[in-house]
Amino acid sequence: MSSYSEAEKETVYRVISERRDMRHFTHEAVDPEILKKLIYAAQLAPSVGFMQPWRFIRITDSTIRDQIYDLAQAEIKLTGEQLKEKKTIYATLKLEGIKDCAEVWVAALMEGRDKYILGRRTMPEMDLASLSCAIQNIWLAARAEGIGMGWVSFFKPDDLASLLSMPADSYPAAVLCIGHVKEFYSKPLLEQAEWDSRRAIDEILYENTWGNACSIINDP
Ligand SMILES: Cc1cc2nc3c(=O)[nH]c(=O)nc-3n(C[C@H](O)[C@H](O)[C@H](O)COP(=O)(O)O)c2cc1C
Repeated sequence: MSSYSEAEKETVYRVISERRDMRHFTHEAVDPEILKKLIYAAQLAPSVGFMQPWRFIRITDSTIRDQIYDLAQAEIKLTGEQLKEKKTIYATLKLEGIKDCAEVWVAALMEGRDKYILGRRTMPEMDLASLSCAIQNIWLAARAEGIGMGWVSFFKPDDLASLLSMPADSYPAAVLCIGHVKEFYSKPLLEQAEWDSRRAIDEILYENTWGNACSIINDP
């Protein structure tokens, strides 16, 4: 019997559905044992050609954290200026929790990726896909531990790379805000703010050709 028990399966689906992108945190420190579990979860992620391109930089220097915050705020402002619609909603959104969370980790792609061609010859971006799998593992493990995580992508990668003295061909892909939260949002904050809503299944699943309705959706 290779499948999990009903209770175990329920827990897996529960953590998937209750994971939230968090932007509100308490300042309480996270137990280092939990932080270790999060990085072990990242390490177990799938990766193209078993490349394991992920690198994480834990930011403990408050000056660097403040500089990351400034990079994010500058980009949030620029994005707001370029928006053509929903400007009013955008102005109300909280898009990062960099100053409030216990931990800031920068998730990055390592240097020297060009020599890894297994599964990447035609799609070099599979390195980023692999890093994203690692980040998702952290997100799910954190949720199971009762710890929130927010993914921040508001920054200019070159600026962040230079701030962190990263090698020229590495790439900072995400700022992760990790920490205790008062409560997890019941729905995505962007859904609550009516920025967007979750797509219906028949909008995201096709059969055989693009746009063709898939039979499993209609068959209960
Ligand atoms: C690649 C990626 C980048 C994201 N960047 C940001 C960000 O910069 N700021 C933010 O507030 N949320 C960011 N998010 C979180 C999304 O807004 C969030 O996942 C989405 O609204 C759905 O909410 P949920 O994660 O709670 O289900 C990012 C998510 C992903 C996957």
